[in-house]
Amino acid sequence: MTTVACGIDIGGSGVKGALVDLESGEYVGDQVRIPTPDPATPDAVAAVCRTVIDRLGVGPDVPVGVTFPAPVFDGVIPYMANLDQSWVNVDVRALMATHLGRPVVALNDADAAGIAEVAYGAAKGRDGVIVFTTQGTGIGSAIIVNGTLLTNTELGHLEIDGHDAEKMASSGQKTAQGLGWEEWAARLQRYYSHVEFLLNPDLFVVGGGVSENHDKFMPLLSLKTPMIPAKLLNTAGIVGAAYYAAKNHA
Ligand code: BGC
Repeated sequence: MTTVACGIDIGGSGVKGALVDLESGEYVGDQVRIPTPDPATPDAVAAVCRTVIDRLGVGPDVPVGVTFPAPVFDGVIPYMANLDQSWVNVDVRALMATHLGRPVVALNDADAAGIAEVAYGAAKGRDGVIVFTTQGTGIGSAIIVNGTLLTNTELGHLEIDGHDAEKMASSGQKTAQGLGWEEWAARLQRYYSHVEFLLNPDLFVVGGGVSENHDKFMPLLSLKTPMIPAKLLNTAGIVGAAYYAAKNHA
């Protein structure tokens, strides 16, 4: 039984990786972070991923999971909201296997963070329908039902009042538009009440850096569904990628 796996999280500003202890969900040793190349083309980013696993000294038999800020259907990215458009239609599983010299498991970044919260974090041991959203440049989502991930949900792109939801309600837009907590919370109210209406979940978990400030916006929301902040914060994507890779690798 594998006890350690490697997770790599590809984001708009950094590519981060670490080895993860699958018992505890904690890093083994330090995280490696390299700025995302500009332009962030598939080959340039894959070369950075190679550097990350070389620096971490990942052994050949250690499962490797890589996250992308996009859905990944059968290894292929169908569209890309917030990274270079040259990722569209790329078979990232094949790309990464070539660059990393081993099979990899490729998955969506929010799916990774969501399963990490269920396996090790804020939603550990919780049954029912859990809707995890991660706030950042975009809004990523993961739906977990009694521990099973429904992959590649894209609740950040619900169209609400004629807008792509993440262009209205993401924490990235809060920053870009200089919104105060109350203004932003009003947008979150519109967003999460719509998600609640559609899915009737048992629990909302909110991740992303802004969830450290949950006391500034969660009390302003009025929802039927309980909402709690994520616990793993910065490590969730990597931990979830490693966990998922260990469960799904070839
Ligand atoms: C993408 C999602 C991703 C989220 C967070 C969205 O724009 O469509 O796939 O999970 O951003 O990176």
